Amino acid sequence: MSSYSIKELLKKQPVGENVEVNGWVKTFRSNRFIALNDGSTIHNLQCVVDFENFDEDLLKQVSTGAALKVTGTLVESQGRGQNIEIQATDVFVHGAADPETYPIQPKKHSLEFLREKAHLRVRTNTFSAVMRVRSTLAFAIHNYFQQNGFYYMHAPIVTGSDAEGAGEMFRVSTLDPKSPTLNANNEVDYTEDFFGKETNLTVSGQLEAETYAMGLGKVYTFGPTFRAENSNTSRHLAEFWMVEPEVAFNDLDANMDLAEDFIKSIAQYVLDHCEDDLQFLEKRLLDEEKTKPQNERSDMSLIEKLKFVVDNNFKRVSYTEAIDILKNSKPNKKKKFQFLINEWGADLQSEHERFLVEKHFKCPVILFDYPANIKAFYMRLNEDGKTVRAMDVLFPGIGEIAGGSQREERLEVLQQKIKDLDIDEKELWWYLDLRRFGTAVHSGFGLGFERMVQFATGMGNIRDVIPYPRTPQNAEF
Ligand code: 4AD
Ligand code: MG
Repeated sequence: MSSYSIKELLKKQPVGENVEVNGWVKTFRSNRFIALNDGSTIHNLQCVVDFENFDEDLLKQVSTGAALKVTGTLVESQGRGQNIEIQATDVFVHGAADPETYPIQPKKHSLEFLREKAHLRVRTNTFSAVMRVRSTLAFAIHNYFQQNGFYYMHAPIVTGSDAEGAGEMFRVSTLDPKSPTLNANNEVDYTEDFFGKETNLTVSGQLEAETYAMGLGKVYTFGPTFRAENSNTSRHLAEFWMVEPEVAFNDLDANMDLAEDFIKSIAQYVLDHCEDDLQFLEKRLLDEEKTKPQNERSDMSLIEKLKFVVDNNFKRVSYTEAIDILKNSKPNKKKKFQFLINEWGADLQSEHERFLVEKHFKCPVILFDYPANIKAFYMRLNEDGKTVRAMDVLFPGIGEIAGGSQREERLEVLQQKIKDLDIDEKELWWYLDLRRFGTAVHSGFGLGFERMVQFATGMGNIRDVIPYPRTPQNAEF
């Protein structure tokens, strides 16, 4: 007998065949119809069971959440909503799920409630769809880079360099927290720690990826990154996944081209491979938006938004142009922005980014050439001496989805920058070596993977696109 996943069965529709299917009960009605789902697809398989023919005990064990193996004949369905169904000849209960205590009942649960049941929420339509899209996106990312001559580089998770994220890192230590060894200055003596120095979880694989780009040419990292920033927003996690391509000999223009082509390509991949899940998520989003005031509703559906990104050029705008637009914008003049834009040099907040993308340009935007003093030390200084070759990719509904730059490849300029910022040059000896030996123009960027999943699924809160979100005060599971 053939054992199929429900996805395969629905595709093949081998009517008349005897088949065996495993899955979990979604709904059970009229003591006869079981909607079974095995996670392979958003669609359920209807199983018709004549319980009179079975042991009485069986009926008691079939309820939402129970794991079953159903054996039977595949027939054309008489009912609406599906083409085929199983006429069951045997039902085996792997495990029942007591309806008194099983929390995922066939009704609408709030996303907040489901966050507390994160170990079970993947059994709902919404989360199974989101997680299938997430998986497909991850594959699309590898696919894109592997097909375009990039090598996958594994940046270290534990790092001894804290160059980028000063103050926002999670310490990694095996010292006794109650009585760590102290040095002569009464400070914790990290020479006694596991690695003989202070170490942290990485905030970005970039600096290490740069070293590999300067040997392998085109590399990308794709791994977890960690930030101890206390930001409780719908777009921040303390543990998130980042995709960081780094390319030798690419300047900022080439970097923007790469970012745009890459993001379009993975969006297209999801459109091509997740049709059923996207249709489900689109409908979910529409229902959710109905509860919002008219002016907060999106004028495009989820699939339209994805297609829009694929089909339209990202608008490239310099920081200086953006400041002019923002200074003269209605919300700035009417003092509607929380942070008013008065002068060149202001750091852009997400309200400004979203105004540019959602109200002004109405398309994805790449902002570039930011003031040097609001960006990281490694970005290449422009000839004007005050801006750097930075770029941020801004998306509707999301804000910043990716950020990157052309890197400073000139040793003296980089050393001066490090000095100005009071960073210890000794910490970065290996990074500076890249500028000593065979230095070259190079660029890269980081895409926030969860923000991309948010965009592709229409989920408003980043906690709902990662299996187990890590946020301040929250590390259950
Ligand atoms: O802009 P960021 O901080 O850039 C870097 O870390 C560079 N080293 C990247 C590079 O040039 N290789 O982070 C990159 C992206 C952001 O645009 C955002 O999408 C995402 O990572 N991100 C977060 N996503 C979720 N939670 C957070 N706390 C995030 N912080 C950044
Ligand atoms: Mg950034």
